[in-house]
Amino acid sequence: MRTRSSAAASPTDALVDTPIIRLRGVNKSFGKTQVLHGIDLEIERGQHVVLFGPSGSGKSTVLRSINLLAEPDSGSLQVDGVEYGPGLPGEAGVRRGGRLALRRKVGMVFQQFNLFPHLCALDNVGLPLRKVHGMGRQQARDAAAVALRQVGLLDRAGNYPAELSGGQQQRVAIARALALEPEVILFDEPTSALDPELVGEVLKTMRLVAETGMTMVVVTHEIGFAKEIGDLNVFMEDGRIVETGPRGFYENCSSDRAREFLRAVM
Ligand SMILES: Nc1ncnc2c1ncn2[C@@H]1O[C@H](COP(=O)(O)OP(=O)(O)O)[C@@H](O)[C@H]1O
Ligand SMILES: [Mg+2]
Repeated sequence: MRTRSSAAASPTDALVDTPIIRLRGVNKSFGKTQVLHGIDLEIERGQHVVLFGPSGSGKSTVLRSINLLAEPDSGSLQVDGVEYGPGLPGEAGVRRGGRLALRRKVGMVFQQFNLFPHLCALDNVGLPLRKVHGMGRQQARDAAAVALRQVGLLDRAGNYPAELSGGQQQRVAIARALALEPEVILFDEPTSALDPELVGEVLKTMRLVAETGMTMVVVTHEIGFAKEIGDLNVFMEDGRIVETGPRGFYENCSSDRAREFLRAVM
């Protein structure tokens, strides 16, 4: 796999201290129900972030806010120093970006893979390259082949999703995200829909992605994997971030709720 430089080029680079993702005061409601309450989260380039907490606590909505699948009602969503959300009142002079520009920077992998059933693996990976990056058919296929090789599935390029195991389908979905060469990849419970014996191959692929220095935000209840990759660990409940911590968090978290939750899932 390609290795990415994890920091900006020189100390004089203005972006050196800019978090790759910065959420401040993000609120989100569906109808009358407020599901995110003032989410603040800063993610550094190259960091591997684990987001965990009970079902319905807002983890998916946080991920979906980061790529505007769910638009924040208020608050700031900055990626690479550019504002994509409503912004904060009184904060002037911040460059604003559009949805397509954001989609080039932020890739996503879903629990249910979301592959097109009528396209082979190669075209599933290649289609977004044509739509998002405007590549021609052959260029997209070449880039898709490189990404499939990265996840160890080049030999399955011509297979349709129904001809692949769930683990292989999820690896195709990871290849699809990688091929776009994003700054960040969001993973929303990527192994939760898999039979237990298929979880390992997907975690292995995610480990390889992590080793390239890719910034990753992962919602998972695979606590063993979380302990292994989590540089920053975020526990959510009821639409709020309750507690965050660095490596070692799972042994040392201080809130009763996080400890209780971990006891239940570990
Ligand atoms: N599109 C939606 N419309 C209405 N309610 C939603 C929608 N998406 C999520 N919710 C609600 O928002 C809350 C948080 O959901 P979600 O972010 O999916 O939680 P988690 O991923 O932690 O299980 C839940 O109560 C859920 O029912
Ligand atoms: Mg969810």
